[in-house]
Amino acid sequence: MTRILSGIKPTGNLTLGNYIGALKHFKDFQESGEVFIFIADLHALTLPIDPEFLRQNTRDLAAFYLASGLDPKKTTIFVQSSVPEHAELNAILQNYLYMGELSRMTQFKEKSAKLKDSAIGLGLFAYPVLMAADIVLYDADTVPVGEDQVQHVEITRDLVNRLNKRYGEKTLVLPNYKINKVGARIMSLSDPSVKMSKSDPKGDIFLKDPMNVVRKKIMSAVTDLGNEVKYDKENKPGISNLLTIYASLKEISIEEAEAHFQGYRYGDFKKEVADVVVAELEPFQQRYQQILDDQSYLPVLREGAKKASQIAHVTLKRVQNAVGLLNIDE
Ligand code: TYM
Repeated sequence: MTRILSGIKPTGNLTLGNYIGALKHFKDFQESGEVFIFIADLHALTLPIDPEFLRQNTRDLAAFYLASGLDPKKTTIFVQSSVPEHAELNAILQNYLYMGELSRMTQFKEKSAKLKDSAIGLGLFAYPVLMAADIVLYDADTVPVGEDQVQHVEITRDLVNRLNKRYGEKTLVLPNYKINKVGARIMSLSDPSVKMSKSDPKGDIFLKDPMNVVRKKIMSAVTDLGNEVKYDKENKPGISNLLTIYASLKEISIEEAEAHFQGYRYGDFKKEVADVVVAELEPFQQRYQQILDDQSYLPVLREGAKKASQIAHVTLKRVQNAVGLLNIDE
């Protein structure tokens, strides 16, 4: 049986990019494998964050997971910090990724560039080690992510190969990333040359935005010269991004979306894209709000932590044994 694992950081302001690139698709794996979806709260600490804000975002994300259609009977949903094996395995794995390769990670370069050297935490630098621990703890073979996380799954593969070469092929399972054909990288609406990220209020659609704001943001999205609705990432990045959003929410190909909008003017095109986004987000937000209010996510997270820990514990023991840590219970 395949094992699928993914996670999202509860840093607040989840975007339509997170939704299309990752969240929306997690439920698709529920029928074909054993799915583990978690809230990466330890990773959220790698940049300064207010404690109460982090706690609220964690609740929010739990409700988002359930609202997206994840069924706790089929998927193990949990908070990273509630399964101590993540931190324990991290302490071992940090010895098998090296300073040079970690300093070449795009995410580290981008995030640390915005900070003074004296404010770059070790956790930000070692981010991929913890992420590797997240993945290998569950013997995951499939890791669904957006394009920006591919490099982190690749470095996890390097680490697995390194460890298995040293301690035996069966020590860790080699994971593969899985990105969507359409929508693996949703761009900012105000600057389609950069990715939609959690920190750009103008160009991002946040999953908690009111619907009138969602519409306004789409209607004022940057478009391109010309008047044809055509997918051309080089010359028409704004239009291509909106086409991608439309196609991925309608679950059709880019070609089908293009054909649908043939002869449309930009204004009418945007209006229809906004309709589709609203049709998706409005009921999603209602489900999210209800789950948040009735707190039904709490028993889910408790049960999830128990199930996750049982599996993670077995892997941790296997690795501890492989690297030579003495098991005093035997
Ligand atoms: P995070 O929280 O930054 O993003 C969550 C997911 O959303 C995807 N994503 C996007 N997809 C398309 N277009 C965008 N503009 C866009 N922005 C973000 C991300 O690729 C990601 O899949 N390191 C991870 C969390 C993590 C994790 C893991 C993931 C921790 N451990 C183990 C998988 C496996 C992160 O920060 O994602």
